[in-house]
Amino acid sequence: MAYETIEVRPIAGALGAEVSGVDLTDLGNQAFSEIHRAFLDHQVLYFQDQPLDDDQLEELTLRFGPFGDTPFVEGMPGHPNIIEVRKDADEVGAINFGGRWHSDFSFQEAPPSMTLLHSRVTPPAGGDTLYTDMYGAYEALSPGMKEMLKECSAVHSARRSYGTGGRFSKNPNATRMTVHPSAEGDKEMAHPIVRTHPETGRKALFVNAVYTVRLEDMTEAESAPILDYLYEHSTRPEFTCRIRWSENALAIWDNRCTQHYAINDYHGHARLMHRTTCAGDRPV
Ligand code: SIN
Repeated sequence: MAYETIEVRPIAGALGAEVSGVDLTDLGNQAFSEIHRAFLDHQVLYFQDQPLDDDQLEELTLRFGPFGDTPFVEGMPGHPNIIEVRKDADEVGAINFGGRWHSDFSFQEAPPSMTLLHSRVTPPAGGDTLYTDMYGAYEALSPGMKEMLKECSAVHSARRSYGTGGRFSKNPNATRMTVHPSAEGDKEMAHPIVRTHPETGRKALFVNAVYTVRLEDMTEAESAPILDYLYEHSTRPEFTCRIRWSENALAIWDNRCTQHYAINDYHGHARLMHRTTCAGDRPV
């Protein structure tokens, strides 16, 4: 079906589209419903030249649904549902937030359905975000692999990042973002490896190298060959797209059928983004 109020230009073969012809601070119902349709069709949307302030970012997020719960990372003063994703120019050698393939907070019982990321300061080059299509990755598996994964669940946990032995506990100066690792981060949550998207009805792989720790009822060592295969398979270049950020751009992505990766290649330059999420459902 054609779009009447927005322009939608795919940015890669697998997923991702740039949307133009719209002011996100003044969205009529038809434009919003076309954006929602484009979001379900393309999984990742990118809008340039959208100078949103924090109130407007929150207002836009709430058009899509209630805020998701953001544990471990402190929200902004006066805007607890917005986190600053930041790396300063002088943070030489620092890790960046989101710098490995993952789906946001997949360790939660009901992980966020979507994430909105608004760029405030961008480096002159680098700092792009990669996305991968987990529908396409699932569909490209052999019938035998699909059959084997059909009844399997994987265990997700925040422990490697935010747990008591995780990287922010071991190295509190790893980032200037305010991160609070805790025993909460050590908890585990099982989700099906193949989930059905609650809005599109399509099946997607749902594992990622940051938060998936093993297959249910198996050891980490036993799980590794299968999980490593799925991580490598699902991030093949033909399943991906790449966003090159400019200031005051907004990306929105669907955590139920994508993974993303923030590239840490802009040392000596600052990057600052404001990020919100919408609450999701328990994967089935
Ligand atoms: C994230 O992983 O949520 C942040 C991605 C980015 O900064 O590009």
